[in-house]
Parts: sequence; C-alpha cells; structure tokens
Amino acid sequence: MFLKRLVLVNFRNLEDLSWNPHRGINIITGDNAQGKTNLLEAINFCTSGASFRTSREREMVRQGADFLKINSLMEKNGSQYEISVEMAKDSKLEFKLNGLKQVKNKLFQPGMSVSFTPSDLDLVRGNPAGRRRWMDAELCCFEARYIYNMQNYNRVLTQKNNLLREKIKTSGYNEILETFNTQLADYGSRIIHARLSQLGRLSSMLKNVYRDITSGKEDIYFKYFSSIPLVDKLNLNAIKKSFLDTMMEKNSEEKFKRQSLVGPHRDDLNFFVNNMDARHFCSRGQQRSIVLALKISVINVYRLEYGEYPVLLMDDVLLELDESRQAGMTGLFELPLQVFITSTALPENFPADYRAVKITNGQLT
Ligand SMILES: Nc1ncnc2c1ncn2[C@@H]1O[C@H](COP(=O)(O)OP(=O)(O)O)[C@@H](O)[C@H]1O
Ligand SMILES: [Mg+2]
Repeated sequence: MFLKRLVLVNFRNLEDLSWNPHRGINIITGDNAQGKTNLLEAINFCTSGASFRTSREREMVRQGADFLKINSLMEKNGSQYEISVEMAKDSKLEFKLNGLKQVKNKLFQPGMSVSFTPSDLDLVRGNPAGRRRWMDAELCCFEARYIYNMQNYNRVLTQKNNLLREKIKTSGYNEILETFNTQLADYGSRIIHARLSQLGRLSSMLKNVYRDITSGKEDIYFKYFSSIPLVDKLNLNAIKKSFLDTMMEKNSEEKFKRQSLVGPHRDDLNFFVNNMDARHFCSRGQQRSIVLALKISVINVYRLEYGEYPVLLMDDVLLELDESRQAGMTGLFELPLQVFITSTALPENFPADYRAVKITNGQLT
C-alpha cells in the first residue's frame, strides 16, 4: 500500500495542505504542536477509516471551520484508487471511492497501516489490558469475525457481571447465568483460538526479527497465559469445553466475588528474553526492541495476508530508539514499504535513504 497524494482541508490545524509523499521513507520534522501527529492521523484515517487518537470524529474538524475534507490517492497491488472523506457541519462523515459514495465498512480492510506511537513503548512492561488490546487490534484484526466475536463477548460479559452484582435471589438467576456462560464459552473460545493461531504464526517471525535487531545476541519467545487450562491449543471445541468446565468450577467463587473470573478478558501475553521475563528483567531499551520487533513482525504477517506491505506510521518514537536499534531497522527499510516518521529533529546516522519535509504551523515547507 502506498499513499501517492494527500490533500487536506480543515483537518485539525492543517487548514489547506497538499502533499505527494515519497514512496519510501518520509521523515516529517517540526517543533511541538505544529501538526506532525495530525498529519499521521490523517494518513491513518484514509488507510483505516479510523483515527488512532479519537473516536469522536468531529474533533478532527478544524476549530472555527464548518467542514472537513480528506482526499487521498492510494496504490494497492499495482492499481490506483482515490478515497475521499468529507464531513459537513452537523452531518456524518461521508466516504467516496473514486468519486462514488461508499459505506465505510466496505471501503477499508484491516491491516493497511501499522502505527507505532509512544504509548506502544509501554506494551511489554505495562498492564495486561494493553497487551490484550494489542492482540485484538493489531494481531487478530483480520481474522474472520474476530471483531464480531469480541463485541458479542464483551456485551454478554457486561450482562453477566451485572447479574453477578445483583442479588442471587433474582428470579431465574441460575438459569440466566448458565445461558450467559454458554454464550461466553462460544464467543470466548473463538477469541482464544484466533489469538493462539495468530500468535503461532507470529512466533518464528518474531524470533528471527528480534535476533536481527540484537545482532544475534538475544533470543525471544512468548507465552500466552490463559485463565483456563489449554491442553489442545488448536482445537476450538477443546478450548470451548475447557472454558465451560472452568466456569462451572469457579461458579461459587464468581458468585461470591460477584464478578466473572475466567475468559479471554483475563488472559495475558508475556515475553521472555534469554529465558527471563521481559517485564521484570529487561532494560527499557530491550523492552523497546521487543515492541519494535513485534511491529516489524506484524508488518510481515500483513504482507503474507494481503500480498503487499501496509503503510508504517511512526509517531515520535524514532528518537526513543537509540542508534543501534535504529540500525536494527535497516532490514525493514530495505523492503518496498512506505514509512512516515515524525520527529522533532532529523536523526543522526539514520540507516537508510529518506526524504524529509518540515511542518510549521500546519504548513509543509
Ligand atoms: N480540531 C482542531 N482544530 C484546530 N487545531 C487543532 C485541532 N485539533 C488539534 N489542533 C491543534 O493542532 C496542533 C498540532 O497538533 P499535533 O499534530 O499533535 O502537533 P505535533 O507537531 O506536536 O505532533 C495543536 O496545537 C493542537 O491544538
Ligand atoms: Mg506529535
């Protein structure tokens, strides 16, 4: 996927911007609050239909303006197409493909861009919820019906937790709980199954990428920790049965604690470098290398899935990676991959050719 042209009108502080980015690495420099992240957000929007900053789309309209326009020319697997997005005052976003109105869900496929932002840098040492979000949003997004299963799982989970918080005397309590458990086992086992199969696919890729980044000095592996026993990890029915059995076992404890205690919403993914738990034993730099290796591996997974690399968006993370880690990206930068990197300063000894633009007060110079 390549972005060939981008025209923005009233996109946050980017009042009127027109740009033909380079096919390879684009470094966007500028002082703080000039519009670097806004520019990446606009690219993210026209490759995914979503913002990595907000779900309140109206925020993207420039303050004081009454409409927003994004027009982009993309190239995918050799063909070009134009995506435009418009939002007039008080009305919804409108999407067009080659000038014809199109519903958002038909226009965007998951995995057309990968973003790497400062909040990702905490993925390894941060809380389990962040790692689950990563698995859901980035690793499993293109698995058939994954998002559908997640939405349904979360809906039933909320209903079950509401019930557990109510008095046990509620009429039909046990029957309702059993129905919720059956539904949770159905959706939840599919979620766990999808996570495990995507992780299985990622595993050897991550090992190789991480070894490259660390010049062969360090080995990595990960483990999926589940709140239910997983004996036959690739068998959906076995996962479902184990999930149901565990909920039955924990039935009294769940009633006592008044919350749901098992399922994919309680699971975690942990990384081990040279056999040590990366959360506790790795330096900040090593933890960043793991995240970098994960991003590179995901890019490769998308390539296998779609036959083409996604666009890579790196917001303010370049200077957080020291020179040896930047050098570890050389292999990545040799791929036919379009990259957008924001940074307050140009990096020294950057390991590949790039084209730089500067943004000042919403204008490219
Ligand atoms: N809807 C909006 N209308 C006008 N300006 C906005 C809007 N949303 C954000 N901004 C402004 O855009 C500026 C640049 O933001 P950003 O792209 O995050 O800067 P940076 O270059 O540091 O990444 C900020 O000063 C912010 O106030
Ligand atoms: Mg920024």
